[in-house]
Amino acid sequence: MQINIVNSYDELSAKAASIIISQLILKPDSVLGLATGSTPEGLYQHLIKKYNEGIFNFSQAKSFNLDEYVGLEPTNPNSYRYYMEKHLFSKIDLQAESIHMPNGMAASPEAECAAYEQKIKDAGGVDVQILGIGRNGHIGFNEPSVDFQATTHVVSLDEKTIEDNARFFDHIDDVPKQAISMGIKTIMSSKKIILLASGGSKAEALYEMIYGKISPSVPASILQLHKDVTVICDEAAGALIQGK
Ligand code: F6R
Repeated sequence: MQINIVNSYDELSAKAASIIISQLILKPDSVLGLATGSTPEGLYQHLIKKYNEGIFNFSQAKSFNLDEYVGLEPTNPNSYRYYMEKHLFSKIDLQAESIHMPNGMAASPEAECAAYEQKIKDAGGVDVQILGIGRNGHIGFNEPSVDFQATTHVVSLDEKTIEDNARFFDHIDDVPKQAISMGIKTIMSSKKIILLASGGSKAEALYEMIYGKISPSVPASILQLHKDVTVICDEAAGALIQGK
């Protein structure tokens, strides 16, 4: 695991963007694994800026998002589809048919999970997967007491996650209780992983992920076994790993 503690959120975002940009310059038809949440917003801003400068483009790339809430229409501002359109897709030349996100409105979420997993396989797997981390150590929506062998599946959200995500909704009761998420097995199959963490609320989870016991109670701890993980965190998130 390569660990980078940088001075600021902006530096974190720029560093993550430079990895994606070099990936796309060297392999324009790369398969990108994307995340939502507050953490990658700066990364997406940097990517858009450099894309507008003409340094690289997304025309041959494909994308697969980590997760989506069950029961939210793509037009719902809290859906991850809406987030991705707003923060990235509407501003770059990634082709509509190359964008993949789990469909939270699927009549059969289980069938949707199996189809999503197959699409990732058919695309040749994810080249670079972006991850954030939850305060409870989740990655994607793989919550504590995760099954490490799971592929894309329907998950019930943990209480901490519902609390954390309530900030985007009018009321905590509006936060969906379920989501479709790539599983740990799906994430671990990515060729390269970039995990981003910003802010003191992530310090403990980050410490446990890197130095703790590999355990389903900290889903991200499995990343200790992946061959190519780059962690980029700011000083607040890295407070407990500084000097280790
Ligand atoms: C988002 C996702 C989640 C977030 C995590 C951190 O697609 O899968 O695992 O990465 O909850 O969220 P933020 O960045 O909002 O702190």
